[in-house]
Amino acid sequence: MTDILIRDAKRTDASAIAALGQVAFPLAYKGFIPDAVIATAVEQTYSVAAIERLIDQAGADDAHFLVAERDGVVVGYLHYDSVGPEPELHRIYVAPGQFGEGIGSLLLRELHERLVPGTSYILMVMAANDGAVRFYERHGFVRDREVDGVEHYRLHMGVTNPSDTPAVPALIMRFSSGEE
Ligand SMILES: CC(C)(COP(=O)(O)OP(=O)(O)OC[C@H]1O[C@@H](n2cnc3c(N)ncnc32)[C@H](O)[C@@H]1OP(=O)(O)O)[C@@H](O)C(=O)NCCC(=O)NCCS
Repeated sequence: MTDILIRDAKRTDASAIAALGQVAFPLAYKGFIPDAVIATAVEQTYSVAAIERLIDQAGADDAHFLVAERDGVVVGYLHYDSVGPEPELHRIYVAPGQFGEGIGSLLLRELHERLVPGTSYILMVMAANDGAVRFYERHGFVRDREVDGVEHYRLHMGVTNPSDTPAVPALIMRFSSGEE
């Protein structure tokens, strides 16, 4: 994994991150989230402008937007902040085709090195996303509670869907630093 560089995202990375998210997000959820919900989330959270805003906010208020770079190309990203009711990891995505090579672990390790000892934070993962749940459990996350993923996106990421959108079973998982 020595060919992977983990670093803070720069504003000039926004278009590469948005392009990766526009592919990686639908691929991760196709089949267990309605297509319309996927399209809405991509439209509202993966525009270049939306990513630029998050990158601008990172560095302040205990927020981190990290990228994994391989041969000058962004092959993964992670976004964490402390703006909501509790600190939260909002996104961790690796380029399709490069899963299982340790890139996600490197992103998570860098975040954990930056956290103030004793920090506890949450993330939301779709219950059917077995690979991601396994990844988090392997890194010491514990299951906290069950939620509706669509409602969580609304409350925590501002993603708005029609009110009759069916619920998507999801889990809140928690990481407490010092317990990995
Ligand atoms: C989840 C994710 C970030 C993990 O990053 P990664 O670089 O693939 O993971 P690592 O190589 O560091 O660790 C491998 C572990 O990831 C998990 N994993 C998840 N999906 C995997 C896949 N398709 N292939 C291999 N490992 C996968 C497994 O737990 C694996 O450990 P194991 O081989 O002992 O079972 C990445 O697979 C990904 O982007 N998945 C799609 C997007 C996603 O679901 N993001 C999380 C949203 S909540």
